[in-house]
Amino acid sequence: MADFYITTAIDYVNGSPHIGHAYEKVLTDVIARFHRLKGERVHFLTGTDEHGQKVQQTARKRGVAPSVFADEVSAEFRAMLPRLEISNDDFIRTTEERHKRVVREILQRLFDKGDIYKGEYRGFYSTRQEQFLQSKDRNPDGSWPEIYGEVAEIVEPNYFFKLRSYQEWLVGFLTANDRYIFPHFRQKQVMEFLKEPLNDLCISRPRERLEWGIPLPFDDGYVTYVWFDALVNYYSAVADRPGVWPASWHVIGKDILVPPHAVYWPIMLHAAGLELPRGILVHGWWLTSGAKMSKSSGNAQNPLDLVDEFGPDALRYFLIREMNVGQDGDFSRELFLTRYSSDLANDLGNLVNRALNMTNRFAGGLVPAAGPAGAPEDELRALWEATRPEYLALFEQFQFHTGLERLFAFIRAINAYIERRAPWKLGKSADPADKALLATALATIGEALRLASAALRPVTPASSEKIGAVLGCPPQGAWLDELAWGPRLAGSRVAVSLVLFPRPLPAAEKAP
Ligand code: ME8
Ligand code: MG
Repeated sequence: MADFYITTAIDYVNGSPHIGHAYEKVLTDVIARFHRLKGERVHFLTGTDEHGQKVQQTARKRGVAPSVFADEVSAEFRAMLPRLEISNDDFIRTTEERHKRVVREILQRLFDKGDIYKGEYRGFYSTRQEQFLQSKDRNPDGSWPEIYGEVAEIVEPNYFFKLRSYQEWLVGFLTANDRYIFPHFRQKQVMEFLKEPLNDLCISRPRERLEWGIPLPFDDGYVTYVWFDALVNYYSAVADRPGVWPASWHVIGKDILVPPHAVYWPIMLHAAGLELPRGILVHGWWLTSGAKMSKSSGNAQNPLDLVDEFGPDALRYFLIREMNVGQDGDFSRELFLTRYSSDLANDLGNLVNRALNMTNRFAGGLVPAAGPAGAPEDELRALWEATRPEYLALFEQFQFHTGLERLFAFIRAINAYIERRAPWKLGKSADPADKALLATALATIGEALRLASAALRPVTPASSEKIGAVLGCPPQGAWLDELAWGPRLAGSRVAVSLVLFPRPLPAAEKAP
């Protein structure tokens, strides 16, 4: 059973993972963790897409069998997940028997229904995109856009799936489900695409041209077109788990929305008598110097190098804070370092150490109970009361970058509160009113920090856990309750210090 089933695209195993792949997994993980923290039963699937011409070609170039190559690269993608703190419940490979069995079943079902027929294919094929092209895909000068790589002309007998006969149904479905695709402008693009008549989909490849695929159950002279195989992963992975299908969200990049996820997949499901997912979340691309980061273009940043240098939470925070979900974003080491030093090392990391230092210096390491509050406390608390619902609503609507912006404004307000109350001055005073105010200040700083760190849990799980631990207050009870301002910390013993986000480079140093 699951209340919330979320998936990522499954990555082709034709090269090592880069920032684009890491981003999609982190984004999906943040959503999965957010729903889990809210108390829902979440099922989170990711995996690898291993068949097809592209993988066969790359394996040949390396001089190994496709299965050996796929094992190796799939293992590399899988090994990346724990390094990024991805909390997936399952990992599917399209070469697994549990997947192949369901693909064959669906093909047979559609064949028996008469939705699959044999005919002659004539046209152009892009191996890089594993996609047939049409003349409207050409540049005005007749050449093929760069994104398609090498394009080959093909003429051969093949099997076709009757997409065309479901076109009106699909238009009706998308009209009735106006918010099926997020962001909304993408749904409009799909409707635009559906104004032209669809061609039936060629779903087979003769084995003499492509060996590396799932044989058709009704003709073993052919293997299945890789997209018809890959899309089924979302369903095949949970076919044996009652109550999980349909997915709540498929998270994918904008390059694979039209036609695979917005046209083929809903029609495949509908034709096979299966329920459709509730929605498709489409993210943009990470660019380097204006071009899409990709396995084939030599501009790939290995996410694990950044994890080695700065830790997983720094990368997760950067990816989620910097990208407006659905838009494209620029990746550069400079942008990464700026976020790292200003937000993480400076605003958050310093705050943690100031809170620990002052609690140790002025209160023997025990967080005092708050005494009487004044305007500075009331204002900080009011800011939290405004930030909390806004942050949760923004996360609900996939506006993570704005949510984090608001949360870090609160974190900076805690730092400003410290300056305003100046506990180091209160600590020198013998006046009992100042002593009471000092207790209030230390309690307020600790509580505000505890709340900020708890709110960050979907994005920076390990750091939030460490902050909770040094405050002597590990998470307990429901997360939404944990986000309520209260006296939880009174009497807890804090640690001496915590190095969370060390400053990496002298050049990135800034005065605290
Ligand atoms: O498309 N920025 O696999 P893939 C952001 N196997 N996201 C990016 C990106 C970038 N620069 N580059 C790639 C496939 N991605 C198919 C999917 S699903 C049934 C089959 C995203 O390895 C891309 O948009 O080419 C896609 O969502 C995912 O990484 C895998 O890309
Ligand atoms: Mg791709």
